[in-house]
Amino acid sequence: MIKIDYTNVMAETIGERDGILREELLSFRHFIVDIHSKIQKEKEKKFFFTKLPYQDTYEIEEYASYIRKEFDYFVLIGIGGSSLGAQMLFESLTWLNHNHFDFPKFYVLDNVDPEKFEAVMERIEIEKTCFNVVTKSGSTVETIANFAIVLDILKQTIGKDYKKHLVFTTDPEKGFLRAFGNEHGIKMFDIPPKVGGRFSVLSAVGLLPAAVVGIKIDQLLKGAKKMDLICSIEEHVEHNPAYLIAVLHYLANMRRGKNIAVMMPYAQRLTAFVDWWRQLWAESLGKDGLGQTPVKALGTVDQHSQIQLYRDGPRDKIITFIQVENFERDLKIPENIPEEISYLKGHTLSEILNKELLGTKAALIKSKIPNLTITLDEINPYNIGMLIYMYELATGFSGYLYKIDPFDQPAVEEGKNFTYALMGREGFQQKLEEFKELYKEKYKLEIQ
Ligand code: PA5
Repeated sequence: MIKIDYTNVMAETIGERDGILREELLSFRHFIVDIHSKIQKEKEKKFFFTKLPYQDTYEIEEYASYIRKEFDYFVLIGIGGSSLGAQMLFESLTWLNHNHFDFPKFYVLDNVDPEKFEAVMERIEIEKTCFNVVTKSGSTVETIANFAIVLDILKQTIGKDYKKHLVFTTDPEKGFLRAFGNEHGIKMFDIPPKVGGRFSVLSAVGLLPAAVVGIKIDQLLKGAKKMDLICSIEEHVEHNPAYLIAVLHYLANMRRGKNIAVMMPYAQRLTAFVDWWRQLWAESLGKDGLGQTPVKALGTVDQHSQIQLYRDGPRDKIITFIQVENFERDLKIPENIPEEISYLKGHTLSEILNKELLGTKAALIKSKIPNLTITLDEINPYNIGMLIYMYELATGFSGYLYKIDPFDQPAVEEGKNFTYALMGREGFQQKLEEFKELYKEKYKLEIQ
């Protein structure tokens, strides 16, 4: 179960300068009906991610149980939309110490940081490792570079059976990885062509790793289906969670100057959820000079680091808190404690955590900072499935509000192309010339 409390975003609570008037929210009614019907028509096209909850997961489950039997380590090689979703599912839905006590242990090779690569290699045993290479385009530099090294290590260590240690998740037809997989007979899963990286977590991109580490992916999809059902029938902004999130953020941004969207869960396990959302919000909506900068925070830790700024700094933020009612494990402050701190006696840590959240919210209301709270009764696959779908749809819906295409990322492609040119990739010579023209190191300071 999830609840969304947006009382503290409303003008009734924090005033008209920073808060949204109910009339403003409701004035979007006709606009929403129009966007709603467009989305329903686009479900087989640009909004194809909405179809993912209904897929047949038999092959994924079967292969995941084979991996669980055969391997002790599962390493995902991928970046951006091809890794953040799996990382989020792993961190949110397995115990925090999974990699200390459980198998298969899960690691991600996303960056091309040589020290990170070596650190992951130090933790695994190649003979007992399955590598899942995930790339939609099949050619992302980071992924292909990490894969190239792993491939060599596998060939050297395992010999001709190296193929058994690889599983690819990629476009069904295009790209280097698909061609390599076909040529060498490597097990492959498809990324539906109409689903972009950051909307792909509920495809094999996220589901295979999730199933491998023991997450109930049927529950995850059940939650997503539930959210799809609600959002498909509800056109009223106050009854449709995804549209509500989208419109509140849009109004806060465009009419109240809230250029920054903070997400601050009060649960350690949800920090990777924020990383996943941050990419979704930023890469989808940051276009044509528009969009909100998503910022990651964690309660209560960032109360002691960021709240000063959020309350008293520039009035440019809307904050989403995520609260968890019941934690998988909890602890009570003992009765037998010094008199001076006796006010804590008998309270649980989760109770303190959630009281601190309440205190923070009250302080923010006092400073008239818009904030909304999403409460989960517990962190489980069903609730996370609902949240994933809700934010994906809110992002797609926001594209219509901002009048931008939320499914492309032209500004990212530019940097990728310069990198190809710098690495000497064929066909990018002209890009290299453009780079030389653009990039100068004229003003520099060097300190020995
Ligand atoms: O959301 C996106 O499309 C991007 O973040 C991609 O996922 C990222 O650039 C990795 O691309 P690929 O999956 O092609 O390796």
